[in-house]
Amino acid sequence: MNVAIFSTKNYDREFVSAANASRHELRFFEPHLNEETVGLASGSEAVCVFVNDQVNAAVIEKLRSLGVRLIALRCAGYNNVDLSAATKHGITVVRVPAYSPYAVAEHSIALILALNRKVHRAYNRVREGNFALDGLVGFDMHGKTVGLIGTGQIGTVMAQILTGFGCPTLAFDPFPNAACRSIGVRYVELDELLAQSDIISLHCPLTPQNKYIISGGAIAKMKNGVMLINTSRGALLDTVAIINGLKSGKIGYLGLDVYEEEEEIFFEDRSGLILSDDVFARLLTFPNVIITGHQAFFTREALLNIAARTIDNITKFENNQPLEKLAG
Ligand code: NAI
Repeated sequence: MNVAIFSTKNYDREFVSAANASRHELRFFEPHLNEETVGLASGSEAVCVFVNDQVNAAVIEKLRSLGVRLIALRCAGYNNVDLSAATKHGITVVRVPAYSPYAVAEHSIALILALNRKVHRAYNRVREGNFALDGLVGFDMHGKTVGLIGTGQIGTVMAQILTGFGCPTLAFDPFPNAACRSIGVRYVELDELLAQSDIISLHCPLTPQNKYIISGGAIAKMKNGVMLINTSRGALLDTVAIINGLKSGKIGYLGLDVYEEEEEIFFEDRSGLILSDDVFARLLTFPNVIITGHQAFFTREALLNIAARTIDNITKFENNQPLEKLAG
């Protein structure tokens, strides 16, 4: 099949081309897919997209008119795709449901440990010959209660890792899973999780229902000095409320790999440009905030799995073989 692949970087080209082994005709494009760039899909029967491509109803309608029959996401989350519009236009949508839950869970743990032991600050100090420890005091992870919002594939790996630290783990998920229960995770209501956890980490998808699940009201229910980690999707947090929580000291630590408006910022070198997002700029001023640019998935193993599954999805679609389709 002829496939237009959007939002591509060198690493996408490398891994996807290797997995493809010349099976499909791939055309790699750097821009995001959106209403302005959708014309690039002309001549393709399939498009392949990533987390910040805007696959809304208007884009889908245009894709259909260009003859596109398949949208292959090379990620797990699909909040950026209007599934009902895709169904309406008879376009199949597939994704990579799991490529490495370890990659994302381990990155979440990296954020927790770096914030706790202030590795980001210590790194800079030592490079400048400052070996003073003032301000670097951390806490033992052992015995601290961690609350996981969402215990699917990634949340489950988080729970397994946290067991090794000796952290009592609470979870909130409309669909509790037995694997977590078997290692001692206690499922509670969201309010209890918010009130009891020293560290709260989000591992649920973004849906219209849970946008801003961490609002000002939710923050008010948390312990003073709580650590908040979000490697899922930016709009799960009301960022303005988060900033207020940081200013008041209610939130003691914040680790983010995602940001509500990341589409305009992440995945590019903007070091020579003026940052125009004042909310993001404010987040960068806090010494107890660490932000990474949506890199939690970014391990060799995950890239191999994403590429292999994406090519497999496209091949199965072409051959009319059974596919795990997303329905609108
Ligand atoms: P999953 O589908 O295996 O698990 C999600 C879990 O969240 C399910 O158990 C579901 O019941 C639960 N859930 C749904 N709504 C909820 C709510 N309102 N409150 C609490 N739980 C809720 O998904 P997986 O693979 O664990 O991924 C989780 C999220 O991580 C993805 O949706 C994606 O947004 C994000 N992600 C981020 C990456 C990164 O690089 N930063 C990479 C991969 C995924």
